[in-house]
Amino acid sequence: MVKDQVLAKDWISVAYSQDIGTEPVPVTVLEERIVLFRTQEGVQAFKDLCIHRGAALSLGKVVDDCIVCPYHGWKYDTEGKCVKIPQQPAEQTIPPKAKAIVYPCVERYGVIWVKLEEGALENETAVPFYEEYEDSSFRTVHAEPYVLHAAAPRVVENFLDASHLAFVHDGLLGDSAFPEIPDYSVNWKENRYVSDEIPVYADADGSGNYATIYYTFEILRPMTARLKKVNYSNNQILSMLFTVLPHDERKTTVFALVTRNYALDQPDEYFRDFQKRVIEQDAGIVESQKPEELPLDLQAELHLKADRVSIAYRRWLGELGVTYGSDVTGVKKR
Ligand code: FES
Ligand SMILES: [Fe+2]
Repeated sequence: MVKDQVLAKDWISVAYSQDIGTEPVPVTVLEERIVLFRTQEGVQAFKDLCIHRGAALSLGKVVDDCIVCPYHGWKYDTEGKCVKIPQQPAEQTIPPKAKAIVYPCVERYGVIWVKLEEGALENETAVPFYEEYEDSSFRTVHAEPYVLHAAAPRVVENFLDASHLAFVHDGLLGDSAFPEIPDYSVNWKENRYVSDEIPVYADADGSGNYATIYYTFEILRPMTARLKKVNYSNNQILSMLFTVLPHDERKTTVFALVTRNYALDQPDEYFRDFQKRVIEQDAGIVESQKPEELPLDLQAELHLKADRVSIAYRRWLGELGVTYGSDVTGVKKR
């Protein structure tokens, strides 16, 4: 049984499409071991366990669009049905119970998303929406997956935090001489939280050219958020889809899609390196936070008006009933 019944029914990002081929890859999602592999029908996500003697299917290989267990060669098709048991005569029927556990799995925006349990959540439509990815005037870079030794909700909240830019990313995304955050609000729109535009004054690219960049944060799902940064003086837009994979309550991988409508001919490496520098700066801070779990009771820790996005995030996790990586002490049950 998956530990968090809310996250179990949500789409969780588990890998980039480019990293999954016919070679099986094991991934731990919410402490469940799964295996990803590609067939002609697309990417498959199975429980990483053979029903025969419990061996890890990820140690096996893909043959004829089936995954073959490394231990005794049982062969499972894309529906998880066992289609061959080499120790049995071919004419003997295979017991219908000989099945691998298959998870719903989709690919979108070059990301593989898995649900550990069937069933839709309240307000949930599909995989979070990221329209810039399909817009031909934009170009997307998939930042290197980054592992943090921290609870997923702490990692997501850090992404939603405008106040830290001037400090943690001084000279890169913000300027410690201009730390003030004007008042703004956060509103529920259709199926997500959206902030007003938050101005951040900074020398955004280290070139010495100061400008006001307007940040809009959106909380799409418990483990997925996005950000839009607009420089109105030159109409440059940079959007980001930020989605995390909780391996366990202390280890989280970040997948970030960085999408821009400018410098389209600049090598992607530049944007990948920039994103890596940013997250390396965040990592030290987020890994230091205590308690490790994100406190969902709004009476715990202190909040400023500038923290409205993270307040909305904590409140929403509490309302949805997310407990994983969260401290729910003092939060009323719905
Ligand atoms: S454990 Fe997989 S075939 Fe025996
Ligand atoms: Fe940051």
